[in-house]
Amino acid sequence: MINFSLIFPSSVHFGYNSLEKLASIELPGNSCFIISGKSSMKNYGFIDRVISILKKRKINSYCFTEVEPEVSVETVNIAYKLARKNKVDIIIGIGGGSALDCAKAVAGLASQDITVDVRDYIDGKEYIKKDPLFFIAIPSTAGTGSEVTKNAVLLYPEKNNKLSLRSEKLVPKIVILDPELTLTMDKNITAYSGLDALSHAVESFFSKGANDFTKELSVIAIKLIFKYLPVAYKDGKNKEARYYMLYASFVAGLAFANAGLGATHGIGHTVGAVCKIPHGLANAILLPQVLIFNTKFCPEKLKELEEKTFKEFIKELLSLNKKLKIPMKFSDINPNIKNNINLILSNISFAGSLSFNPVKLTIKEVEVILKETI
Ligand SMILES: [Fe+2]
Repeated sequence: MINFSLIFPSSVHFGYNSLEKLASIELPGNSCFIISGKSSMKNYGFIDRVISILKKRKINSYCFTEVEPEVSVETVNIAYKLARKNKVDIIIGIGGGSALDCAKAVAGLASQDITVDVRDYIDGKEYIKKDPLFFIAIPSTAGTGSEVTKNAVLLYPEKNNKLSLRSEKLVPKIVILDPELTLTMDKNITAYSGLDALSHAVESFFSKGANDFTKELSVIAIKLIFKYLPVAYKDGKNKEARYYMLYASFVAGLAFANAGLGATHGIGHTVGAVCKIPHGLANAILLPQVLIFNTKFCPEKLKELEEKTFKEFIKELLSLNKKLKIPMKFSDINPNIKNNINLILSNISFAGSLSFNPVKLTIKEVEVILKETI
């Protein structure tokens, strides 16, 4: 028996057409800042739909559609100053994980009394003192789980890493999960984001912070992802597969938001930042090797997972990667990675996800895992 605490968003609206909930949910103020990436949400008309729903409620919208695929600290600095300048009351993040993480950080910083650099919060010199602006998260990918977490993962180029701004105050107030938004994802984004969700579910199951509740969530998400990700990958318009993948991603998000992650994310963030490899793809390559390494030291955890899901779990994982055309090694994507091993190792952070790995790792052991994936 272990004690545990849980964090959740205040309310969640799930299902096709749930974007329309914006027409009726309680909102504070009459001015909104919509944050998204540069293309898909705009091109597929979802931003116009949000603006039009809010307009009927006499809520003005300002848009910031400059979020990069891996959002940087500098973009957050620009966006939060714009939100403050326009005196907005509500922040809406709509898009993939980067758009949501950017919006989350903006909601946190725009409400503070002082003007700062988001880097100061990551380094822990500052912390979120005042409540963030009212924040609504609307994911368009089924993977990041950012809609339920307390951290915004940001690219920090000077440190060759992706690091987190963390505060329980940053958990979104409202989450809208409308699978229709995910129907537009291409094959690669479907695979990478789906495998990111799978790595959340698996890592949270093995995490030092796992409890009975989060483990049940992890198992639900793992089973759904193995069933529906290949279907969504093959046929992006399959509404049932998209529905259950968004649901699985949300459930896996709840699991890791409350249990923590592990070495896949701990190493993957740095590999992604140094070698410019998408987050979900980096995790998909690392996860089998991290499991092979970890479970030498905690075979009972693998046995427990196999009893609840599939026999020969790691073999199943490798076979899913193959179905989704995930390369076995990073050098299959970027041959230069071999020259960057020392740079990756010197920038690994042991403070974030790695601190939840079920086996305490030294830099030597991180190097062993990394070399298996190169
Ligand atoms: Fe992730």
